[in-house]
Amino acid sequence: MKKVISVVGARPNFMKIAPIHRAFQKYKNHVKHLICHTGQHYDEKMSKVFFDDLELPKPDFYLGIGSGSHAEQTAKVMIEFEKILIQEKPDLVLVVGDVNSTIACSLTAAKLHIKIVHVEAGLRSFDKMMPEEINRVLTDSISDYLFVTEKSGMENLMHEGVPDSKVFFVGNVMIDSLAYYLNKTNGAMLSKFGLEPGKYVLVTLHRPSNVDSKEQLTKLINMLNRVSEKRKVLFPIHPRTLKNLKEYNLLDEDNKNLILTDPIGYIDFLSLTKNAELILTDSGGIQEESTYLGVQCITLRTSTERPVTVEIGTNQLLGTDLNKAELAANLVLEGNKKQGRIPDLWDGKAAERITEILVDELINN
Ligand code: UD1
Repeated sequence: MKKVISVVGARPNFMKIAPIHRAFQKYKNHVKHLICHTGQHYDEKMSKVFFDDLELPKPDFYLGIGSGSHAEQTAKVMIEFEKILIQEKPDLVLVVGDVNSTIACSLTAAKLHIKIVHVEAGLRSFDKMMPEEINRVLTDSISDYLFVTEKSGMENLMHEGVPDSKVFFVGNVMIDSLAYYLNKTNGAMLSKFGLEPGKYVLVTLHRPSNVDSKEQLTKLINMLNRVSEKRKVLFPIHPRTLKNLKEYNLLDEDNKNLILTDPIGYIDFLSLTKNAELILTDSGGIQEESTYLGVQCITLRTSTERPVTVEIGTNQLLGTDLNKAELAANLVLEGNKKQGRIPDLWDGKAAERITEILVDELINN
């Protein structure tokens, strides 16, 4: 029996591992697929609700790392994950995305000569101020199997000299989850917040570049207040953002058209994404989900590691100049919509492709 340990740590990891876990079940007589949760995200609303919504089993290993500085968080994951690897001796370690748990676990595996699978490889923002960019570059450089979601990823890895034999263009596992759960979406959240389908703006913000400085966060809230004069705005707040809103005294709940709420679970958030008129975000994943759903998206960042969403999708990359973003938002709300289409291989079958390749490697090589 071969053994694969997949790693989850932070919110954007759960919906990527769920379809991979499901796809591995087809091979359960040959491959044991185990899940390790580092505990980088630990709140009920940042973690547990996703296990429930995505029908993920209780993790086989829970490291309980929690928050901390980058070095602390990464180092703690490494110390605990090394113990698991020494005890379990897996044939492969599979990591997804670009969070601190991704680099921590892949680096630990590399030092123990365990082969590494990176799902969502090759994405590059070319902005080393983003911790995720450092995590992406480093993880790819020590991975043995690199599974890529969009053409730009193939080009980036080629330019970095990664041999073709390690790289596979398979599509997007996050879209696998979206396609799988789309028919479970419902109107509960719209009723709860008094929203009409196609007539509200959905906001998510958590990048340090947007929410860590008082100046930028103040400008953002002012802009959201102005947008809320035109449409209801729903803003589920990430813990990092909430902490800063409180610290800077920006948490004002008097505006009934700017609805502030806790982080929202997977299926409820999907229901809200699908029905939004416009999304304002700095998330990576939401750029892709909105493109798949054909929903208008304005990304408040200067760079994106997911350029396909801008090139052929419904995403607009507008930097952190909020005047520009507000102008673009107003245009969308006046009916000027960007036409988009779905990128190649975002068809709900990426995890099947990945497991087929991996099982073939494990059994035949
Ligand atoms: C992390 C990822 C980011 C991803 C995001 C999604 C890295 C470097 N960043 O950023 O790529 O887009 O997750 O959410 O890995 N906190 C809680 N409860 C939790 C988790 C966090 O209260 O369950 C608070 C803590 O105060 C913590 C802060 O949020 O200090 C930030 O958490 P952290 O995991 O360091 O980074 P994120 O900003 O969530």
